[in-house]
Amino acid sequence: IPMEVKKIACIGAGYVGGPTMSVIAQKNPDLQVTVVDLNAERIAAWNNQDVSKLPIYEPGLGAVVEEARGRNLFFSTDVERAIVEADMIFISVNTPTKTYGKGKGQAADLKFIELCARQIAAISTTDKIVVEKSTLPVRTAETLKSILDNTGNGVNFHILSNPEFLAEGTAIADLHAPDRVLIGGENTEAINALVQVYASWVPRERILTTNLWSSELSKLVANAFLAQRVSSINAISELCEVTGANVDEVAHAIGQDSRIGSKFLKASVGFGGSCFQKDILNLVYIARSYHLHKVADYWEQVVLLNDHQKTRFAEKIINTMYNTVNGKQIAFLGWAFKKDTNDTRESAAIYVADHLLDEQANIIVYDPQVTAEQIYKDLDGLGSRPPAQNRALLTVVSDPYQALSGVHAVAVLTEWDEFKTYDWSLIKQNMKRPAFVFDGRKLLHGATLQTLGFTYYAIGE
Ligand code: NAD
Ligand code: UGA
Repeated sequence: IPMEVKKIACIGAGYVGGPTMSVIAQKNPDLQVTVVDLNAERIAAWNNQDVSKLPIYEPGLGAVVEEARGRNLFFSTDVERAIVEADMIFISVNTPTKTYGKGKGQAADLKFIELCARQIAAISTTDKIVVEKSTLPVRTAETLKSILDNTGNGVNFHILSNPEFLAEGTAIADLHAPDRVLIGGENTEAINALVQVYASWVPRERILTTNLWSSELSKLVANAFLAQRVSSINAISELCEVTGANVDEVAHAIGQDSRIGSKFLKASVGFGGSCFQKDILNLVYIARSYHLHKVADYWEQVVLLNDHQKTRFAEKIINTMYNTVNGKQIAFLGWAFKKDTNDTRESAAIYVADHLLDEQANIIVYDPQVTAEQIYKDLDGLGSRPPAQNRALLTVVSDPYQALSGVHAVAVLTEWDEFKTYDWSLIKQNMKRPAFVFDGRKLLHGATLQTLGFTYYAIGE
């Protein structure tokens, strides 16, 4: 076993592999870190000299990449070479929900993980530590081990689980000062080798070591608990709307109890992102596969409530606008699943738009970081209507005031800070009357908007 790691490879240059390896390289100048991906366009973007053109938008990422890239951080499409040369290989490929066959719509699709394992097994000529960085079903390490150990070429593989807890939009801050780093494994020397990598900047007491299965499962459970808090407060938001309670006041009041805590209690149009739904559905699928139906049903409610919240927001818009939005213009502020990212995977905006387009609304979208190409891809991906119709009904603009001019209603879908700074008085003048604002993020100052003459609706009020 390579006791001292000198070369690291990471397979997958996505939202996790890119930022994580950039920080590992930044903090370990003596380690050579190579991030590889099959997607040549993505790698080219990671190598762009202009760091504002990196493939993902993440505050602080550009500076880290500039510091380490070319020194000890490399981005490449040469997957084989990186594998052959590395002592330690992180697998950070995507693990989406299966869209076919057994477990369709729930189980994690592990085809990319298995491909990586087979490739590592086939071409390795020296011992390796293989690190699961992707989020995986509990006991995946068993599958990996079986593939890696059956090559017959005498190479030793040690498998570790090292799930990633960064959140998008704050990835660099999260990586620089993680609440904890989790490392699961069986072999103490392999565990220690990875502990050393993190110990360059993470206080030793924040590096937790467990057995493999606890580590794999903890990642799914962490996301399930986080998403459950959002669904819990969103469930209460509906009750607030009919009782006169205000969900922000309720969240603040309960959050002051140190046992509950104040974070992650912001009511919204629904959680999005590539992971919460995927990971909970995966947990549900695993529980069912062990015949734990009550456990599965319990966690499934978190996703069902989230779907309800998105539908409820779209229906609120329709009902408030006199039960028809046909031909009416609705401006969407935001398309990303949260602020400070260009990621739109599972964004609530996609589903709210789809619902309104079914009612033949006209939507004008402005998001400071998301491209028109991405927005149409998200909508076309649902397959609800022909692509040409999506383009006829929905337009994307790059100037917010253009999005808001002459519209019947504004819907806030993402909590970008800049939306708060707009000249809402000017916007009101240029809108149709009554001027509706539907705030899916409780972002704007409702009382001020009401004074300006808007008809203001916010989640949970
Ligand atoms: P991503 O889709 O952004 O990136 C994955 C990359 O892997 C893609 O660029 C893809 O081309 C590449 N890839 C797939 N198979 C490959 C192969 N065989 N060889 C080389 N490259 C290959 O995904 P992501 O958001 O970075 O997520 C990766 C994993 O991390 C997932 O399991 C996810 O659940 C987990 N995770 C994500 C986040 C997040 O915030 N996005 C946070 C924690 C954990
Ligand atoms: C989440 C977790 O926070 C990370 O720890 C985890 O590593 C990651 O998933 C993952 O495994 O992918 P992320 O999805 O990037 O991170 O972003 P979050 O900040 O968790 O937000 C997720 C969604 O919940 C967003 O749509 C956000 O707007 C929504 N949310 C969050 C709320 O509606 N209310 C809240 O109080 C918090």
